[in-house]
Amino acid sequence: MKKILTGLISLFIFSSLCAKEIPLVSNIYARTYMSLNGKWNYVIDPLENGYYDYRLKPFKENGFFENKKAASPSDLVEYNLDTSPIMNIPGDWNMRDPNLFVYEGTVWFKKDFLYTKKSGNRDILYFGAVNYDAKVYVNGKLVGAHIGGYTPFNFDVTDVVKDGKNFVVVKVDNKRAKDNVPTVNMDWWNYGGITRDVMIAQVPDTYIEDYSIQLKKDEQGLISGWVKLNTASAGQNISIQVPELKLRLQLTTDTEGKVTFETKVKPVFWSPENPKLYDVIISKNDEKINDQIGFRIIETKGKEILLNGKKVFLRGISIHEEAPYERGRAWSKEDAVTLLTWAKEMGCNYVRLAHYPHNEIMVREAEKLGLMVWSEIPVYWTISWDNPDTYRNAQNQLYDMIYRDKNRCAVVIWSIANETPHSDARDRFLRDLSQYARQQDNTRLISMAMEVTKAPDNLNKLDDNMNEYVDVISFNQYIGWYRASNEAARLMKWEIPYNKPVIISEFGGSALQGLHGDKTERWTEEYQEELYIRNLEMLDKIDGLSGLSPWILVDFRSPRRQLPDVQDFFNRKGLVSSWGIKKKAFFVMQNYYNKKKTEYK
Ligand code: GCU
Repeated sequence: MKKILTGLISLFIFSSLCAKEIPLVSNIYARTYMSLNGKWNYVIDPLENGYYDYRLKPFKENGFFENKKAASPSDLVEYNLDTSPIMNIPGDWNMRDPNLFVYEGTVWFKKDFLYTKKSGNRDILYFGAVNYDAKVYVNGKLVGAHIGGYTPFNFDVTDVVKDGKNFVVVKVDNKRAKDNVPTVNMDWWNYGGITRDVMIAQVPDTYIEDYSIQLKKDEQGLISGWVKLNTASAGQNISIQVPELKLRLQLTTDTEGKVTFETKVKPVFWSPENPKLYDVIISKNDEKINDQIGFRIIETKGKEILLNGKKVFLRGISIHEEAPYERGRAWSKEDAVTLLTWAKEMGCNYVRLAHYPHNEIMVREAEKLGLMVWSEIPVYWTISWDNPDTYRNAQNQLYDMIYRDKNRCAVVIWSIANETPHSDARDRFLRDLSQYARQQDNTRLISMAMEVTKAPDNLNKLDDNMNEYVDVISFNQYIGWYRASNEAARLMKWEIPYNKPVIISEFGGSALQGLHGDKTERWTEEYQEELYIRNLEMLDKIDGLSGLSPWILVDFRSPRRQLPDVQDFFNRKGLVSSWGIKKKAFFVMQNYYNKKKTEYK
């Protein structure tokens, strides 16, 4: 009964919304928008007393979201968002206020903005990501909420935003919880806040909501796709142009407000060696959207991965969304280019963006630089496999990840999990996720980072029921760091009884940059270097090895790494230090990839 009541209350709260969450407006950067990045006021609210009254009932009014002012000297108002401290957004709060370095809880953010409405247009408030639980208010009114720290969301605020002065308030709560995705334990910093771009976009009343344009699966000479309006408006004229391919389609929407098409063209395929992107213009009478789209084919054949019909080796590296030079959560083009340039210097043609969807700019920059991408949802370690709400949350994040990046040819693998403990409930959860991913997008490969089943006599077996639901068998192994020694690597035998390509999604070990000593001395650069040499010798012999993404490009913050003077809350497995200095093992990988490049000419 209580559950039904709570459900009805939240239904009432949201039904009284004067705005609503709407499907993501695709390719927001190509729309007409005003950025809301910049200076926001913020209030730290550990007991959420800006949201709940002293009986823990959510305020309908008088919450911090109203930014109420004392009307007379006798009025009691115990907060003031206008005179509260300022934080530059986007950006995690942990690195912008020493009081918030390890803080997990609620922080309120407020931004005043002047706005000019345009009749016949809708106003869309868009967030690239907010970690983790966001409630958004415009001019004191709730416009919507979002759960999930790494995917975009937007609200139609046309009926709430005014001409002239407005203010937006966001309640952000980054508390971990067992039933969340990720759950309570993870090996990365729980950066909280408005961590990616914020903007308000203006689109026509009837606008191009979403589109998909790519090579038709299994028919290389055809480009196929669709364009969808926000309303079921028939008879709208849609134009799709790819000038360089002399392609110009004039189409008319059906009763669902949609057009589908396929057309014979012969584009130059995108590849790491030639990351060819085409200007694509999608327009209707009152709207024009530009995108840069590449065309390529990714598939597997037995134990091989084929890119554009040719066997390819994924020369990769794992990357966390951690800004270079210890600046917290990465979000900008500058962060993306710095990180991806280090990957290119290593000789990479592929990056594993772990363990959650990275920002859209990172994926677009990878595409321009000729780096294939593994994109992943944070179904990480000990998720609540039996909780249907947890599954729905994971599926929502998978949907959002695919929705946002379906036109990004660089994305070749969707990953649904990392190092998850085997159980019937986990198998059901991941089976459903993998089938859902395939149903959302049957043009890319599905994988997940599995774990090795230890066996006696140096035998390492892959024995995971999920093998039938993935296209690529990927797994993490840490011989030389968490198991066995560097010397033992050469004795290891591998048993991977599946006729599918193999990617080692993680291997590696830690080193404090600048700490030198004997190669048997843990934490020295020489130990890490030796670990990489021995692991590469061992892994290179694996039948069907089609890629590597060693753990990890750069040292990153983690609350699980407390060793004083060595870790200091940093995971030191980076091949580059947190200050951008390459360790000796970086050059072992660079050398290995240079050789691989010649093998796969
Ligand atoms: C695990 C996990 C990573 C973690 C790494 C480590 O494999 O996938 O998220 O950071 O090992 O222990 O360093």
